[in-house]
Amino acid sequence: MSDYQQPSTPQELLSCGPIDPVENPYDIFKAMREGAPVSDFGGTYFITNFEFAQQVLLDDEVFSSKSNSPDYPGIGMVFGQTVVGMNGQEHLKHRNLITPALRPRALGEDFRQRARSTADNLIDKFAEAGRANLVPDFTFLYPLSVFVQILGLPEEDVGDFHRWGIDLTHVAADPERGLQGSACLADYLAPVVKEKRSAPTTDLICRLIEAEVMGEQMTDEEIISFLRLLITAGADTTYHLLGNALHVLLNNRQLLERVSSDRSSLEPLLWETLRWESPVQIVSRQTDRETEIGGVVIPDDSPVTVIIGSANRDEQAFPNAAVFDLDRDQGKSLAFGYGRHYCAGADFGLTEATIGLNALLDRLQDLRFDPDADGESKIRGVAFRGPSHLNVQFSA
Ligand code: HEM
Repeated sequence: MSDYQQPSTPQELLSCGPIDPVENPYDIFKAMREGAPVSDFGGTYFITNFEFAQQVLLDDEVFSSKSNSPDYPGIGMVFGQTVVGMNGQEHLKHRNLITPALRPRALGEDFRQRARSTADNLIDKFAEAGRANLVPDFTFLYPLSVFVQILGLPEEDVGDFHRWGIDLTHVAADPERGLQGSACLADYLAPVVKEKRSAPTTDLICRLIEAEVMGEQMTDEEIISFLRLLITAGADTTYHLLGNALHVLLNNRQLLERVSSDRSSLEPLLWETLRWESPVQIVSRQTDRETEIGGVVIPDDSPVTVIIGSANRDEQAFPNAAVFDLDRDQGKSLAFGYGRHYCAGADFGLTEATIGLNALLDRLQDLRFDPDADGESKIRGVAFRGPSHLNVQFSA
């Protein structure tokens, strides 16, 4: 990792792959925001300040989400046609079909209990040792393990889902690998959806099968595509959110003590983590007609990348934006997107992350970095950001 050459110009940063281990993109984002908040690099338009980011995400007629559909290179290639790639009435219909099923309240007390017992079972495996690497031992496993149970899939298959999910996220760097992961997930899910249709239970897949808006339901293919999106979008994001929140706490003893003794601070902690190190850094759009923003004319059918990780560090919207401040007004962060495509699983992710952090804080006392462990504990990434190691010591 140490011989990795960090980008030093916008050109170098924007030509990085989505999973390159970039440590600090923020100085470059700042220069972009201050110099040219709408900039054209090779025909793709990058939006880096808060005002224009919000404007683009709100104007879904001009800035279409078709960039995320299978007709364009990117995530639609591996997810198929899903809600993130839809627009207008079609999007509205699918949103209404899926959002009720994803609300933690709809998932019930059962959801909270499962999440807590999943967290406890994972902690049981390393608690006695007094040390752990919280990324592979906890943050990586916990969200997907909860998800698999909520979906009503066998827990022993969680390893396969992880592998296929990781393959999917490689689509930009290695399309063949992405498509392979997508095909494996579809092959696995197709008979499951058929079977659940004929023998319904109460799990999330059955809720999606039964969901109905004005007499219309989702087809098997639509459900399979949506599940592919959920398994990656739902698990990868919470995984990074948890890693980033723990990273913040481990680097700030006072904050760790404050949050440990006052669990109501977990909510602002998670919101400030989402703003300060947004797990999802970029979202993409495609213009549906020629338009102008920030004095820059963007031609019809041009790719537009909104760097929400940069918008969330915009001083104009967040005073002292580079500082992690638990007490700041969190109302405006774009970490879950904005407008019609605002994250449909935001409450789900926040509830799950809160339960996971509560379990860790309840069980691991005097939590601190392990000075003797190998593996650096730094937040890295371009499209998604999070640490790959969090080596810790504690008393259980
Ligand atoms: C916890 C951390 C999470 C973050 C930071 C996050 C971030 C985002 C962002 C930025 C978008 C907007 C995409 C766009 O505008 O193109 C989005 C959409 C979405 N997210 Fe999340 N997400 C998280 C968790 C989840 C979870 C746990 C689920 C599922 C249970 C989920 C499901 C979705 C879905 C279905 C959409 C598409 C909504 C639409 O297009 O209408 N997300 N998310």
